[in-house]
Amino acid sequence: MAEEEKWYEEYLKAGKSKIFAIISKDGTHIGNIGIHNTDHVNRRATLGIIIGQKSLWGKGYGSDAITTALRYAFKDLGLHKVSLKVFSNNVRAVSSYEKCGFKKEGVEREQVFKDGKFQDLLVMSTLDREFDELVKKGVE
Ligand SMILES: CC(C)(COP(=O)(O)OP(=O)(O)OC[C@H]1O[C@@H](n2cnc3c(N)ncnc32)[C@H](O)[C@@H]1OP(=O)(O)O)[C@@H](O)C(=O)NCCC(=O)NCCS
Repeated sequence: MAEEEKWYEEYLKAGKSKIFAIISKDGTHIGNIGIHNTDHVNRRATLGIIIGQKSLWGKGYGSDAITTALRYAFKDLGLHKVSLKVFSNNVRAVSSYEKCGFKKEGVEREQVFKDGKFQDLLVMSTLDREFDELVKKGVE
């Protein structure tokens, strides 16, 4: 608990992250989504998301939360670019990010040693004008 409290104090003090709870239709807290490393000079930030229970994956909650967080980042914070890194073999996550307008920007080759092997990280990003296009198409 002491460590959690310390983390929370530092989170508030740094002021570079906003973490939101993802709540399902029945009111259950099913995950978190965050806008991190907010840089107001270059108007950019990074995004992280997790839905805890595997049984709730693939039901649209992730994409819904991502578009909501992007709306906050672009419309409330006035950012220009939101980026993220994802394991390139995380097909579900990549497909959810693409659905929300993220584009592949590059690959950090064999960047992380996980499950006994070096794995690639895909760098993805989306821009404010791309989010506006998404809204026009009615995806958001
Ligand atoms: C990544 C994550 C947030 C996505 O949220 P989600 O609610 O599962 O995603 P959605 O249901 O909104 O969209 C998933 C898309 O992937 C597709 N998909 C689902 N299962 C898939 C599979 N096994 N293989 C490929 N694509 C798949 C779905 O078709 C869906 O696209 P569609 O709506 O066009 O059909 C969630 O799965 C999660 O928390 N995973 C564990 C943590 C994680 O990987 N976080 C990301 C770290 S960068």
